[in-house]
Amino acid sequence: MNVLVLHGPNLNLLGEREPEVYGKETLADLNAAVRKKATSLGLAVKIFQSNHEGKLIDLLHAHRKWAHGVVINPGAYTHYSYALRDAIASIQKPTIEVHLSDIKKREPFRRVSVVEPVCSAQISGKGIGSYLEALSLMSNSYLK
Ligand code: DQA
Repeated sequence: MNVLVLHGPNLNLLGEREPEVYGKETLADLNAAVRKKATSLGLAVKIFQSNHEGKLIDLLHAHRKWAHGVVINPGAYTHYSYALRDAIASIQKPTIEVHLSDIKKREPFRRVSVVEPVCSAQISGKGIGSYLEALSLMSNSYLK
């Protein structure tokens, strides 16, 4: 089974960006952990990061025939991108929204996710573990 993993804006700076909030691991560390977990679950993954809303939408469209499921951290687009929300709804794949930090315990603007209603699940506040848990959940519950 194939899973598309998307990282949104500013996640390329993981490790140096607000490490007290997002951790000291880099995006390369995160991707290595994702690949290892995917291998252990027998999943094939493709991983992309973009700082651009339209690019993330293009990636969802381009992989809609390949991917059986999507794990996405939309970064700040989480809170206001109706275009990304529509793209997730359009491709009709099980999609798990993930966040490194616990968005429900942060500033009021971060507590709202406009993509949550079109995602199968939201996993937030577990650092890299949010992604790893999302892969397990995808494998065990949504790709049967
Ligand atoms: C984030 C939370 C968002 O509010 C923020 O804009 C990010 C990262 C997270 O992973 O905790 O860029 O999605």
